[in-house]
Amino acid sequence: MGTRGVRVSVKSGRSKLVKWDDLRMQIISNPTHDEIKKAAKALKDGHLVAFPTETVYGLGADANNEKAVSRIYSVKGRPIDHPLIVHISSTNQLDKWAINIPDYALKLAKKFWPGPMTLILKRSDLAKDYITGGQDSVGLRVPNQSGALALLAEFESLGGMGVAAPSANKFMALSPTNAQAVQEEISEYLEVKDLILDGGQCSIGIESTIIDCTGASPSILRAGYITFSDLNTTFKLSSFQSQSHVIRFSGNFKKHYSPKAKVLLDKVPVEGQGFIALSKFATPEGVIRISSPTNELEFAYLLYESLRFADKNKILEVVVKTPSGNGLAEAIRDRLNKAQYVD
Ligand code: TXA
Ligand code: MG
Repeated sequence: MGTRGVRVSVKSGRSKLVKWDDLRMQIISNPTHDEIKKAAKALKDGHLVAFPTETVYGLGADANNEKAVSRIYSVKGRPIDHPLIVHISSTNQLDKWAINIPDYALKLAKKFWPGPMTLILKRSDLAKDYITGGQDSVGLRVPNQSGALALLAEFESLGGMGVAAPSANKFMALSPTNAQAVQEEISEYLEVKDLILDGGQCSIGIESTIIDCTGASPSILRAGYITFSDLNTTFKLSSFQSQSHVIRFSGNFKKHYSPKAKVLLDKVPVEGQGFIALSKFATPEGVIRISSPTNELEFAYLLYESLRFADKNKILEVVVKTPSGNGLAEAIRDRLNKAQYVD
């Protein structure tokens, strides 16, 4: 075994030297259009491609390739009955994956796609059990990130129908909001032909709003950047119904989105603890200020990176002063409530 690589056997008893770098999955920074095409081809060939979206990085696989999709579950360590979101390049792809689409869902798609919203719809035959976790619904999203949209369009031009992509982290851990975080979370489980596309920091920083559209009126399953009041004022919907039937939904666990550090909400921080709060709140003596966002948008944008920072710097306890009020603050509180949960 040389320092430059490793010898692997090829046909007819011969061997060749493979460089170490050729044995790892590749990270492509600021991918060019040709590199995005290459990534689309990798997906079509059954490999995994982690890619940026405006919310968090996704770990993508061809949603019609059962073997590729099963690798998502093994890389993430995610229970196989938890459904995946299928990412599509435009609303035009919606009726490939969904049937009986209610008018209100089409209105939502028209208004908020591309964007940080996932619609849960009655599935078509294309959405197999290995995508939906055996449920008769499917989650669909058109992300609003230029690289992601280009990847999806190229993938569809190769005959692909959609890219299944959960957040690119280990099950229950923090979603990655940049390529380095993806690398730290899952690179050891990726294979040589898998790729990570590095498109910089995600502009929103927390996962999409998930809206159940399988009933007579929509219901929010997971809070996000698109808020109840956005939906209510746009559509004058008299009520967003509470969940009327049981949907299996991994973001619905009590514990999720968790760093290694213990997260303490709305306590007074003491010496040695980390502290995340809006900039208007002062840092008590001896407390390690991790981030000071000036508003809720920045709070969401910095949240997961701040918690990762705590872990990297072996800060064992982090006090977070949660933002109050409705809208995005609700989504932030939702993630933090799950992050702080201790069994
Ligand atoms: O912002 C996002 O949504 C990111 C980016 C990559 O698009 N994706 C993401 O995926 O957060 P994931 O798998 O980490 O979370 C998606 C959630 C899961 O809790 C899953 O259970 C739920 O969506 N989900 C997917 N399909 C569903 C379905 N048919 N019914 C109910 N929940 C569903
Ligand atoms: Mg996730």
